[in-house]
Amino acid sequence: NLKDQIHALETIFTVSDAKLKAVTKHFIGELDKGLSKTGGTIPMIPGWVMDYPTGKESGDFLAIDLGGTNLRVVLVKLGGDRTFDTTQSKYKLPGPMRVTKNRDELFAFIADSLKSFVDEQFPEGVSSPIPLGFTFSFPASQNKINEGVLQTWTKGFDIPNVEGHDVIPLLQEQLEKRKIPINVVALINDTTGTLVASLYSDSETKMGVIFGTGVNGAYYEVVKDIEKLDGKLADDIPASSPMAINCEYGSFDSEHAILPRTKYDVIIDEQSPRPNQQAFEKMSSGYYLGELLRLVLVELHEQGFIFKNQDVSKLNTPYIMDTSYPSRIEDDPFENLENTDELFQADLGIETSTVERKLIRRVSELIGTRAARLAVCGIAAICQKRGYETGHIAADGSVYNLYPDFKQRAAEGLASIYDWTMPMEEHPIKIVPAEDGSGAGAAIIAALTQKRLAAGK
Ligand code: BG6
Ligand code: GLC
Repeated sequence: NLKDQIHALETIFTVSDAKLKAVTKHFIGELDKGLSKTGGTIPMIPGWVMDYPTGKESGDFLAIDLGGTNLRVVLVKLGGDRTFDTTQSKYKLPGPMRVTKNRDELFAFIADSLKSFVDEQFPEGVSSPIPLGFTFSFPASQNKINEGVLQTWTKGFDIPNVEGHDVIPLLQEQLEKRKIPINVVALINDTTGTLVASLYSDSETKMGVIFGTGVNGAYYEVVKDIEKLDGKLADDIPASSPMAINCEYGSFDSEHAILPRTKYDVIIDEQSPRPNQQAFEKMSSGYYLGELLRLVLVELHEQGFIFKNQDVSKLNTPYIMDTSYPSRIEDDPFENLENTDELFQADLGIETSTVERKLIRRVSELIGTRAARLAVCGIAAICQKRGYETGHIAADGSVYNLYPDFKQRAAEGLASIYDWTMPMEEHPIKIVPAEDGSGAGAAIIAALTQKRLAAGK
């Protein structure tokens, strides 16, 4: 019966404290492998950001930010006093753009958006090219800061002929066609941007993390501990120099050794454009939460438990439910979940009974809670690896900012791993909202890069 089904779902979607600890322990080993010469599943990409921001960086910079829900174009004015101002425009990435067959379409879209922004912000034109930081939120290998060779698409993107290519010339070509006076000085990941932007104004920052369409984190490593950099660094770089690492830990456990996968996770993986990749991300990030809910509901319908005699053709469409579904369902303030009723009628053409809606809500809670608890294992692993016992973890992304109770659940997950019993506000390692996104981070990194170049380094 339905009660037994719910109980079974509760069992498979609940991650115990012991499991979280085991996942974290395994995670640390995988992070280390990623830094080794032979490498591992987690890319641990050196980001060539080799300075901590001082807060004194200043000047006007442009930033573009691609890889989440929106393309953002940002004009950043760094004040030089640990503060900055941003003016930004968001351009919703058309859905089909994620899987266009023509790579130029993506870079043309970015260049067009940038052009309209620059025309608007600088109606009189500009006298010299504006430096730009490009936040490209995918795993991109770098041998220097103004390069980014895409290793693999993530988060459902699947555009041919970009993997294995440096994306900067692809963008530059479209900028030149449109005669936009811009100089791309740095390519960074959104996590690195979040890390640096937050560190600019909060010296307690230890990591930059994203809980959004994808899941990932960045932190500063010390170059002597990055074995795989051996031979790649100039001789005069001290062994104790910092280097920002974009972990790309969404790829954790792609060999499926430790994560508590359910049959729904297996389906998501098998039907994705890149099976056997991003195992951790597929269980914990925004791109997949609605799809997980949909898969559970489809199965319960097929088993005859819910939506009897209803037309479920819409519900049968993969990815028709984005994260805003479980998010709105969990947010439904009404005892009998009237908002959920309305959502299912209007969007999916399905009438729901109160019992069904309570079930949908319970499944959403299970999926949302599991995501938050698992996602923080990446934070605990980095902090334990680096010996951080206190500090701030700067977080950004739609799931962190918008998903009901995510913040609380994430903090509780971290407390479970560490056996903390004190109130949340007193947790020694606190997840805090990031300082205005990674656009500012891209600008600060562009400023740091210019300073290095000027110093002849
Ligand atoms: C934004 C950051 O606020 O969050 C981006 O500025 C980041 O750099 C994004 O990619 C991630 O969130 P989402 O939910 O859009 O993937
Ligand atoms: C995916 C990307 C990674 C990014 C994260 C958050 O995991 O591969 O580069 O940081 O999503 O946007």
